[in-house]
Amino acid sequence: MSDAAIQVQDLGKRFGDIVAVDGVNLEVPAGTVLGLLGPNGAGKTTIVRILTTILRSDSGTATVGGHDVARNPDAVRTIIGLAGQYAAVDGNLTGRENLRMVGRLTHQRKAVIGPRADELLDRFGLADAADRPVRTYSGGMRRRLDLAAALVHKPPILFLDEPTTGLDPRGRNDLWTVIGELVADGMTLLLTTQYLEEAERLANRVMVIDGGKVIAEGTPEELKHRLGSTIIEVRLADAAAAERARGRLESVGTAEVLDDGRTVALTVGDAGRAVLEVVRTLDAAGLTPEWLTVREPTLDDVFLQLTGHKAEDAPAADEGAEPARAGRGRKRGAA
Ligand SMILES: Nc1ncnc2c1ncn2[C@@H]1O[C@H](COP(=O)(O)OP(=O)(O)OP(=O)(O)O)[C@@H](O)[C@H]1O
Ligand SMILES: [Mg+2]
Repeated sequence: MSDAAIQVQDLGKRFGDIVAVDGVNLEVPAGTVLGLLGPNGAGKTTIVRILTTILRSDSGTATVGGHDVARNPDAVRTIIGLAGQYAAVDGNLTGRENLRMVGRLTHQRKAVIGPRADELLDRFGLADAADRPVRTYSGGMRRRLDLAAALVHKPPILFLDEPTTGLDPRGRNDLWTVIGELVADGMTLLLTTQYLEEAERLANRVMVIDGGKVIAEGTPEELKHRLGSTIIEVRLADAAAAERARGRLESVGTAEVLDDGRTVALTVGDAGRAVLEVVRTLDAAGLTPEWLTVREPTLDDVFLQLTGHKAEDAPAADEGAEPARAGRGRKRGAA
């Protein structure tokens, strides 16, 4: 196996008129985590389905563990695990039965299936629920079982398609912890997500995709640095005050009013000096802010800057279960 556990060149896939994947190149070194970050319809699942041999690409090549996914799909399947966007476990079986079934389907030796299932149930905090039908599990428990099912045959390369979408903050955190442990054990992971916080937390490198194309890549840190180093946000009493403040603060940095109509966000280079200038400028204009915050840019900010639209102009299914998003223009949703 070369150092790259996953290698993709010029990958393309259309569905009729829709170009789902448009010339994607990527490489995941063994033992590292790549985060594919993009909004609904970006092409994330299509890429995962091609790499996990479920779907054929129209153009380009992809190898996983050194095996070409189109020419040698069986070899690829033996070395990968996949937990899809929707948990694929059987609700009528118990957790233990699900894992044993996967053990049989992946041709594990009979003697190892039982102990392996027990070990995974234990590891993922499901031992107490092991003999209950999965339909009685919470969303977070299902996701953990689905992840366990992907690991029964001990694959060195794992694909997780939006592993925490739909979970509450606690469920998301639990899953991040177990995924982090897998990564610490040396797993190669390709993860898709719409949560910038998730990519920051788990990925060594991030590729931002939109409309089937890679629009940016780097470490989470690098992506954040593209934006300028610091964001200062100032909440004013009303829209008129915010507009007046924005006009004055243009002299300090790039200023814009957020969706709530009352918060001015400033992107600045030198945070310390800028904070002083913001305070002086507002004071001179007779404007008193309700609050003022200074923060590092998030990947949300990067996404908005790169694409001109928000990363999550979409899923309503998990509203109320979103992680904290500090991105520009998000204040209304985060309230
Ligand atoms: N089987 C299909 N038939 C037709 N169009 C498809 C099919 N699968 C995906 N598409 C389209 O391809 C594009 C990319 O879809 P894909 O599911 O890969 O996006 P995604 O990034 O996974 O989005 P989400 O975050 O909503 O899961 C979308 O426009 C989608 O409608
Ligand atoms: Mg998807």
